[in-house]
Amino acid sequence: MTSEKKRVFSGIQPTGTFTIGNYIGAVRNWPKLQDDYDCLYSVVDLHAITVRQNPADLRRRTRETAALLLACGVDPEKSILFVQSHVPAHTQLSWVLGCFCPFGDLTRMHQFKEKSAKHPEDINGGLLTYPILMAADILLYNADLVPIGNDQKQHLELARNIAQRFNGVYSETFVVPDGYIPKTGARVMSLQEPEKKMSKSDTNANAVVRVLDDPDSIVRKFKRAVTDSDGCVRASADKPGVTNLMSIYSAFTDKSFEEIEREFDGVGYGAFKEAVAQSVVDGLRPIQTEYARILADKKYLDGVLKTGAERADRIAQRILSKVYRKVGFVQL
Ligand code: TRP
Repeated sequence: MTSEKKRVFSGIQPTGTFTIGNYIGAVRNWPKLQDDYDCLYSVVDLHAITVRQNPADLRRRTRETAALLLACGVDPEKSILFVQSHVPAHTQLSWVLGCFCPFGDLTRMHQFKEKSAKHPEDINGGLLTYPILMAADILLYNADLVPIGNDQKQHLELARNIAQRFNGVYSETFVVPDGYIPKTGARVMSLQEPEKKMSKSDTNANAVVRVLDDPDSIVRKFKRAVTDSDGCVRASADKPGVTNLMSIYSAFTDKSFEEIEREFDGVGYGAFKEAVAQSVVDGLRPIQTEYARILADKKYLDGVLKTGAERADRIAQRILSKVYRKVGFVQL
């Protein structure tokens, strides 16, 4: 890694298989950053256990998520791809940063409130301290830019506050990171309730198109997508269903909304939905093929993750030891 390039860090949880929303809004942009930035991409398994996970599923999904990132174009020669739990410094720094984070900042996080409402039987400490670990992920590498979805803005703000507070007490130590929110296609909505974000964990299968869905189910889900009754392909705030389909189509074809409106002028929703579905099927096909190939080659995949962990660990150690020295831990 050369030191002149700015550094990028992002993480993705190994829970569920990701949706075209995760793909368009986040992961698709990751490979594009590889030439201009030093990128670190992490499968954040430590974050995943804030909600109860079946061990075998977690193990499988961690490898699947890494394979999917590779299939989407993350290049292990250019970027560092690794699993969070393989680099112990994340948890080590997390403890230190936790001591610089007011309790009240944690309890007012939207995600904490939502997740504790959803799992009232298991409001654990990890759920509360989740954003501290996320701050550690980012600050451990002095990342300048953090690609995130809108839902993670508040967590990033907390990471910035922690960095500034620590720097204020101990002198300049951490880079204060900026969010990087892609302009186009940042938000894909549910196909069934287009006012709501498309969510990995939606229990209504028709609402969510996953990157690994087979062509038939993709076509079926788009056919059933909720639209409206005026039959006109046009983007507008009072047409959330149609607008969502247009932005998905736009993301997979690079066509503008004006071009799409012209293309489907006077054509009913049926043909429009078929075209959207086909663009998604075509766009996902190469990823699905590549994913199957990589996942079948466990030795290659684990090799990539091992190298990634070693490279990440080397960078992380430098910053962690600086932090340990600054706070006053004895160095032998
Ligand atoms: N909290 C993020 C999410 O659920 C995942 C994440 C963990 C992350 N650590 C990160 C994202 C560091 C960016 C940077 O989407």
